[in-house]
Amino acid sequence: MKVLVTNPIADAGLERLRVAGHDVETAYDATDDSLYDAVIDADALIVRSGTEVTADVIESARDLVIVGRAGIGTDNIDIDAATDRGVIVANAPEGNVRAAAEHTVAMTFATARSIPQAHARLRAGEWAKGDFLGTELNGKVLGVVGLGRVGQEVARRLGNLGMDIVAYDPYIAESRADRLGAELVDLDECIPRADVLTVHTPLTPETEDLIGEPELDRMEGGHLVNCARGGVVDEAALAEAVDDGTLEGAAVDVFANEPVSPDNPLLDVENVVITPHLAASTEAAQEHVATSIADQVLAAIEGRPVANALNAPSIDEAAFPRVRPYIDIAETAGRISVQLFDERVAEVEVTYAGEIADEDVDLVTASALKGVFRPLEWQVNAVNAPRIADERGIEVSEIKRRQAEDFQSLVTVAVRSDDGAEMSVCGTLFAGEDPRIVRVDGFRVDAIPGGRMMVTRNADAPGVIGLIGTVMGEHDINIAGMYNAREAHGGEAMTVYNVDQAVPEEARAELEADERIISTRYITLNDE
Ligand code: NAD
Ligand code: MLT
Repeated sequence: MKVLVTNPIADAGLERLRVAGHDVETAYDATDDSLYDAVIDADALIVRSGTEVTADVIESARDLVIVGRAGIGTDNIDIDAATDRGVIVANAPEGNVRAAAEHTVAMTFATARSIPQAHARLRAGEWAKGDFLGTELNGKVLGVVGLGRVGQEVARRLGNLGMDIVAYDPYIAESRADRLGAELVDLDECIPRADVLTVHTPLTPETEDLIGEPELDRMEGGHLVNCARGGVVDEAALAEAVDDGTLEGAAVDVFANEPVSPDNPLLDVENVVITPHLAASTEAAQEHVATSIADQVLAAIEGRPVANALNAPSIDEAAFPRVRPYIDIAETAGRISVQLFDERVAEVEVTYAGEIADEDVDLVTASALKGVFRPLEWQVNAVNAPRIADERGIEVSEIKRRQAEDFQSLVTVAVRSDDGAEMSVCGTLFAGEDPRIVRVDGFRVDAIPGGRMMVTRNADAPGVIGLIGTVMGEHDINIAGMYNAREAHGGEAMTVYNVDQAVPEEARAELEADERIISTRYITLNDE
């Protein structure tokens, strides 16, 4: 498989992919056009913040399974477009948290004590001892905007250095802030109370320019630190606020456009300390994120759960072997049920009975949906199937129950129309490993799911099975297996045939011409 890497990641990650037998291609200076060319046949794409993974990039990558972000922020990846195409997006959210927190602390000291400015003056031969009167952090207030992984680590470290912590984060529990000794407040209160305001939110439409001119105006004499994302703080307003002395200083690691352009106003303000997006750049952090994303790429390519998938149902690695066979059974049951159903699907219900009911089944339900949509959609998988259901207004529900008749576990996929018509298909594992379809539309069967199948409904009368065998033989169709089930003696019966060749319309028409045959349906589980 081809893994395309467009921003430098640590060798340990590249090596892990190569050892697994994949063709790792690096294209670190790929421009738009060369990126489109390089990604065309890539099965996986690994990026950091330097590559914009747009809808067009995803569209041109015809084999893409996963976009891996070697780091935290995914604002450079069009996750919606990836989801639409069934491409997993995953990041490595843990590996560089400590590095980012340490850099934030370093940047806080850098601005509070004017370290880069003093360094530059001394290098230039000036002993400017009298020009730098710093801010002592001990006893001052740190305002943390975004108390997530990095924000918490920063709060812990600067709290230990004697700062009082106030934090603004509308999405975390008060108890989390309490444990850190932080006071959770509104942004309006956080801003004027902070001597140092440090920003740690993702860049989203909600956080874009979260700190702009009105906010900076209320930070009289303070410092602002941004090691999160450029767009969260209005750069022009920040440059102006430091330049005119409203703020004493600022430290910025991230910019709205990177690499930063020479006319960025922050570059020219003496009391703004800048670094080129370095917060995660430690050897340890880079090795962590590179190996983490390599492992996830391998998992995606091999069809295993992807630990930090942002747009796909995830599942615990330890539970995966127990759930794995039911993923296929659910997909097959979904695929059969929809091919036996004549109406528009308005609802899909997946019922889990027995031991499987104790497992995390999000991925199984997504696979059932994949099966339902597979005959209709070109590129459907467990990543985009829930979204397709949502977009089509199809209601999806899960039921779990302890009792599974005589089976260890049963998965039933039922499709329903608006007017209550229903088709259900139920599957299980025999002897813990052989998948079987054991019920179709209420009839007890025992069919091996796979390949081509024909399902007939017929009168339970002598000679019917013989007739079907004869017609199939006349059309050169080999019957590999069959299972016949009936409601009651002389009532309606259902027969499921595994066949080696496709059943043509003429053969079905011949069968249906016989009054004992109620209906026939040819189903394929192959992608043909
Ligand atoms: P996280 O998801 O763990 O935390 C983000 C926090 O922001 C969450 O607690 C969330 O509730 C909060 N948040 C979201 N919207 C908010 C809003 N409108 N107002 C206030 N809070 C809001 O993320 P993280 O791992 O802590 O990363 C934080 C930021 O740091 C991200 O932008 C990430 O990309 C960036 N980062 C940068 C570097 C670097 O090299 N400069 C390194 C690592 C992380
Ligand atoms: C991240 O979001 O992880 C950081 O921006 C680090 C990076 O990849 O440079």
